Amino acid sequence: MRRELEEVDPEVARAVRAEAQRQANTLELIASENFVSEAVLEAMGSVFTNKYAEGYPGKRYYGGCEFSDVVEELARSRAKQLFGADHANVQPHSGAQANMAVYLAALQPGDTVLGMDLSHGGHLTHGHPLNFSGICYRFVPYGVRKDDERIDYDALEAAAREHRPKMIVAGASAYPRTIDFERIGRIAREVGAVVMADIAHIAGLIVAGLHPSPVPHCEFITSTTHKTLRGPRAGLILCQEQWAKKIDKIVFPGVQGGPHMHIIAAKAVAFREALEPGFAAYQRRIVENATTLAEAVAREGFRLVSGGTDNHLFLVDVASKGMTGRQAEELLERTGITVNKNAIPFDPYPPLKAGGIRVGTPALTTRGMGPEEMKQIGWMIGRVLREPENEELAGEVRTRAADLCARFPLYVSRQEAPV
Ligand SMILES: Cc1ncc(COP(=O)(O)O)c(C=O)c1O
Repeated sequence: MRRELEEVDPEVARAVRAEAQRQANTLELIASENFVSEAVLEAMGSVFTNKYAEGYPGKRYYGGCEFSDVVEELARSRAKQLFGADHANVQPHSGAQANMAVYLAALQPGDTVLGMDLSHGGHLTHGHPLNFSGICYRFVPYGVRKDDERIDYDALEAAAREHRPKMIVAGASAYPRTIDFERIGRIAREVGAVVMADIAHIAGLIVAGLHPSPVPHCEFITSTTHKTLRGPRAGLILCQEQWAKKIDKIVFPGVQGGPHMHIIAAKAVAFREALEPGFAAYQRRIVENATTLAEAVAREGFRLVSGGTDNHLFLVDVASKGMTGRQAEELLERTGITVNKNAIPFDPYPPLKAGGIRVGTPALTTRGMGPEEMKQIGWMIGRVLREPENEELAGEVRTRAADLCARFPLYVSRQEAPV
């Protein structure tokens, strides 16, 4: 007999409902988050979670894998089609695992790698000393110019000539501008390095043709599937044909055991959604919303890192207003607006305080919000940060945020019961 979660574990059921209500009733502007479709949620919560399927379609170490083969084959072929790549491995459990697999496939411990400085927008797995990447390999950071806060490709080229890296890692977690994968590819070829493009943030934009594709220029492409791509929380590797066998062998048995078949099924669903014509229009709206919101925040007197955005996110310099990113994050959270503190280039504060906030539009765009709502939200962010002591204003912004959420509902059926 079926026993509902509520009956089996009321404490967890209550937390799940409370989280559904939190997501529905606040303005989610964390650039790395999104809301998946009900279809993706259904695949994630499916019986595939019960299945062990070590190996790959047609070559498994367990019996009973015929339907696992179906979903993994669908996910692989759709991923290749989406990006025009030779080969796809859809098994990485996360973006970090995807990056680890590529490093293990292409590098020896101690090898030199160029990666974007974390404080300039890079990711932990691009060489942070506390991360396996920085522990196992010799990462040399590159970054943005001080004057325009855009990647300094000349300095990157000079560093590549000086350090002769085995790999250049291109891609970022907090960089609001287009990345020149072609130029990075050219620099790498000149010094005999391979390139890994980590497109975790911009994968959806690339699918929609709104950001140049790294596929023609890079041996490896890694991504998460849960950001602009709007799929389940997981990773993905694309690579050129000559690396396919090595990548597959490193993902399993090199880095992981059994693939998460329920998540792979959900990736297949998300990739199918991304192949539909409406997906490109959705990505266009994300970018338009980011531009409109960035302009609205700038109009309130805030400096934006690099002066604006080309993609789905932007960084607001709050340090120049005498505030830390942590304070800004907390002030906004009180009014129902969720962002994250973020280091800005040449940050005067340490990472846990940070001099900026990162703001992204994929999630609110999924809810159906557009430029009109972005203008309102930009005003709300600007006013709250300009007048941190004004309780009356905070109350007004809270009400406006709640009104917007009510007008653009989310997962309605999942919040009906009271918390
Ligand atoms: C550029 C980049 N790479 C990798 C990752 C890691 O992904 P995960 O959190 O799934 O390990 C992220 C996550 O934020 C990211 O932004």
